[in-house]
Amino acid sequence: MRINENFLKLKESYLFATVGKKTAEYRAAHPEKKVIRLSIGDVTLPLAPAVIAAMHRAVDDMAKKETFKGYGPDATCYGYDALLDSILSSYARKGVALEKGDIFISDGAKSDCGNILDIFSAENTVLIPDPVYPAYFDVNVMAGRNIVFAEASEKNAFLPMPDDTVKADIIYICSPNNPTGAAYTKAQLKAWVDYANRQGAVILYDAAYEYFVNDPALARSIYQVEGAKECAIELCSYSKTAGFTGVRCGYTVVPKELIRGGASLNRLWARRQSTKFNGTSYITQMGAAAVFTEEGEKQISANIGYYRNNAKIITDCLDRLGIFYTGGKHSPYVWMKCPGNMTSWEFFDYLLENANVVGTPGSGFGKNGEGFFRLTAFGTEEDTREACARIQALLGK
Ligand code: MLT
Repeated sequence: MRINENFLKLKESYLFATVGKKTAEYRAAHPEKKVIRLSIGDVTLPLAPAVIAAMHRAVDDMAKKETFKGYGPDATCYGYDALLDSILSSYARKGVALEKGDIFISDGAKSDCGNILDIFSAENTVLIPDPVYPAYFDVNVMAGRNIVFAEASEKNAFLPMPDDTVKADIIYICSPNNPTGAAYTKAQLKAWVDYANRQGAVILYDAAYEYFVNDPALARSIYQVEGAKECAIELCSYSKTAGFTGVRCGYTVVPKELIRGGASLNRLWARRQSTKFNGTSYITQMGAAAVFTEEGEKQISANIGYYRNNAKIITDCLDRLGIFYTGGKHSPYVWMKCPGNMTSWEFFDYLLENANVVGTPGSGFGKNGEGFFRLTAFGTEEDTREACARIQALLGK
């Protein structure tokens, strides 16, 4: 028996687990202190009333013989029509035409950013931006894939562009980006789409934060760019859009036009899902189906507005302090430079000990994140205001 030795190459714990452990240790040692967490991007507002009402109706369906549901519909890899139709209508509003069969309902984008690799050879080279959401890196280390990096830094506003001298088979792009909050324009994404099509590569496009985009020049879906259906898979989530971090629902789009190695990736993914997955629960799907209704969209937009306001509270504070940052405008994340040339972990400790505020060290997202720090706008407004007042008092001295 041999274990998958690639696991031994990973850092001992996942970034957010390490931050959580350090925070818990500090809290245990200082129970009198009120620690404010602006670290993991976990939402704090409750689900929208339209979602709750739809879930209640779905619970009632499960209580009656006539409306009870077992496994989801096979023909659509367990996605119910009401949810698939609502997703298609949301894409249509972004000017994107898709078919029901292109959409696969999941339990969130994080699972699928790793699961999707099942349909690709372990021999492929994967191109990952640095810094980046750590799951992209870890899932490819687990699979033993060769990883190359697209360097992001202050110099390119944390938006790396393709380089034809770099050969890549699988390309991860997240826009608006986690952790930097930087967002690609449609014109910039077009350069990535053209590069992927020239290389015969596949883009795995993480659109988890698309709902924060507030500028028509910026992309909300990679399919707003011509040629993307021939090279891109889009990973979407209700977590940040509609507060589903604890409910778990997302969708992955694999267009029928996407052919690699002579095979339809849509068919490979359908085959994988029908073997390894039994679908997202009916109650969850019905809740999600209420998100992109007129009423649901009004309610979730109000919630996004609340988080946007938190982001503004953070960026106003950094503006007053004269600290460089990206994000916060089309993103719930603010990516700030650590003051006084501190490393990311030094600043983490400094802020925790002196302001009792927890953020996420930039170096946890890759080597180019060293010297940076991420704050999330998903906290409560009260906590965000309090944290910023403490940061202002500490760094404004
Ligand atoms: C984050 O804080 O980066 C995210 O909440 C993590 C995730 O979405 O899995």
